[in-house]
Order: sequence, then structure tokens, then C-alpha cells
Amino acid sequence: MKIQIVNGPNLNLLGVREPGIYGSESFESYLSKLREQYPEVEIEYYQSNVEGELINKIQEVGFSFDGIVLNAGAYTHTSIALHDCIRAIKCPVVEVHISNVHQREDFRHHSFISAACKGVICGFGLNSYRLAIEGLLD
Ligand code: DQA
Repeated sequence: MKIQIVNGPNLNLLGVREPGIYGSESFESYLSKLREQYPEVEIEYYQSNVEGELINKIQEVGFSFDGIVLNAGAYTHTSIALHDCIRAIKCPVVEVHISNVHQREDFRHHSFISAACKGVICGFGLNSYRLAIEGLLD
């Protein structure tokens, strides 16, 4: 089983960025624990602040991997290109958010990608990624 985690803009700053909302753990630290919890799963990780690079990565793995866990960051709320990309590939994509976007500003309430995704998980902190993996394993 091969799963690709894709993180979008500003998520390279996890642990430093607004810790009251996103926590104080870096993604790299969380990722090593996640890999230990799922030794049977090959978990690849990619992060970019650039919309087109996220699309390139999703296209690259989307026909050979078993699933993608995607936190598109703020592009969630703006990107029709990501919506189209998710629809274009073969493997399921789970949309994740660390924070509960529905408890936050109105502009975070709409996602352009949810309708193209298999499911959505938000609000469980970094644990949202693990729950998305559980969903894909099912
Ligand atoms: C986020 C929520 C988005 O609204 C925000 O732009 C992010 C992070 C989250 O994981 O909670 O960058 O996707």
C-alpha cells in the first residue's frame, strides 16, 4: 500500500506557525511517528507553497499510488485547478485540515476540492492525517 501525503502552502511552518491553531509539533516529527504506526504502508511526503507544484505531484502519483492525503492549505478555498486535478487522477484523495475550518473565518467554510475528494477530515489536529490514512486503508 502506497500513500502520498501532500501539504500545501505554509504547512512547512508547522510547529512555528500560529501554534494556538496548528500546534507546536513539526510535520517531520509527526511523520516519523506516523510511519512507525503503519510499518506496512509506504508513506511518501511532499510539501510545496506553489499551486502548480502540488498539481504536478498529484498527477505524478495519482495513477500509481493507492491514495493521497491532501492538506491544500489556503488553496482549498481558492483552487478550481486542484479540484480538476483530483478529478483527473485515478486514486482516491482525502482532504484534511488540522483545524476545524468551520469554526473559523467565513472564507474558510467553502472548499473547492471537497466535491472531488473521497472524504474530508478536519479539526483533529495532526491526528487528522492518521484518520485519513485509516479511511484509505478501509
Ligand atoms: C488548514 C486550514 C486552511 O484554512 C488554512 O489556510 C491552512 C491550514 C488546516 O490544516 O487547518 O493553511 O488547511
